[in-house]
Amino acid sequence: MDTRFDLTIEEAAALLSAGEVVAFPTETVYGLGADATSETAIAKIFTAKGRPSDNPLIVHIGSTEQLSQVVSEISDTARQLMDAFWPGPLTIILPKQAGIPENVTAGLSSVGVRIPAHPVALSLLQAVKLPIAAPSANVSGRPSPTQARHVTEDLSGKIAGILDGGAADIGLESTVIDCTSTPPMILRPGGVTQAEIEAVIGTVHMAVSLQDPESAPKSPGMKYTHYAPHAPLFQVRGSDAFFQRVIAEAQVAGRRVGILVPAEQRDHRADCVLICGSTKDLAAVSKRLYDALREFDQHELDVIYLAPFYAEDLGEAITNRLQKASGHRVIEE
Ligand code: TXA
Ligand code: MG
Repeated sequence: MDTRFDLTIEEAAALLSAGEVVAFPTETVYGLGADATSETAIAKIFTAKGRPSDNPLIVHIGSTEQLSQVVSEISDTARQLMDAFWPGPLTIILPKQAGIPENVTAGLSSVGVRIPAHPVALSLLQAVKLPIAAPSANVSGRPSPTQARHVTEDLSGKIAGILDGGAADIGLESTVIDCTSTPPMILRPGGVTQAEIEAVIGTVHMAVSLQDPESAPKSPGMKYTHYAPHAPLFQVRGSDAFFQRVIAEAQVAGRRVGILVPAEQRDHRADCVLICGSTKDLAAVSKRLYDALREFDQHELDVIYLAPFYAEDLGEAITNRLQKASGHRVIEE
């Protein structure tokens, strides 16, 4: 398939209306969109990404007036979250409307919905007037795309087109909150933090499997390895001296080592040192993270070690993605 790289919003909307698959920018990551009311259009997303069919998609809308096309019921709590965080990086799981085909939700009776805050995404969704299902626009298992060129790397030739809207502002996927349970449960940490949510609706739960990878996944997407570069990746926990020792031992064993560190630790030596923001500016870390994970693939590395990043607020989402990228492999002092 010829992929078009120079789409206007009107052309992207026309392709989506015609049942084609188009990548578009959001404030979190690029999405791979298709008409959420068309089973055949949705099937093309799974084929292009190589995505397992038991992992449901998020449906994007351009205004709350479109909600009735997607969900059958809106609780007061969900309404409060929408008022507080939409448009923005929060996906809300609610009972599904009958018109949404089974392959959008992997057969679940619930559906995830959000209004993105990116001006290009909003114009596109308002122009196309259809709910648009969109997972992240990467090949399954690869880091999510935060720039149009990441989409090109993964999906060129496999989709109808790409709408370029520059680098994504947040760089990590939306927070996913299940509002079909009481209290609501965060299934994936993201751009909106637990503290911000609790300030609006009171106590919420965090899915247990976020802490314990062995327990049963609540959200189907939680059980797959994600965001991974080609070389095996490990989180390292301990002192700076321990981190440097882990690197040195691998190099002595003849391995080419890549490391991901915050700017404060730029003095560590390795075959490839990628700096990812500063621990004092977690927004900068999240914006750069997936680009850095992709960059490792240009350096023919045998192993990649990740320095610890702070685990509070936005750091919760960052740590969650690093855990997934490493397949929960940790080297502890
Ligand atoms: O920021 C984002 O959310 C981006 C942009 C494009 O909006 N999209 C995104 O989609 O990250 P995706 O498919 O990569 O992640 C969707 C996540 C998965 O973990 C999936 O399992 C979960 O949302 N999910 C979707 N519908 C669900 C449902 N009905 N119940 C439980 N989890 C659901
Ligand atoms: Mg994804």
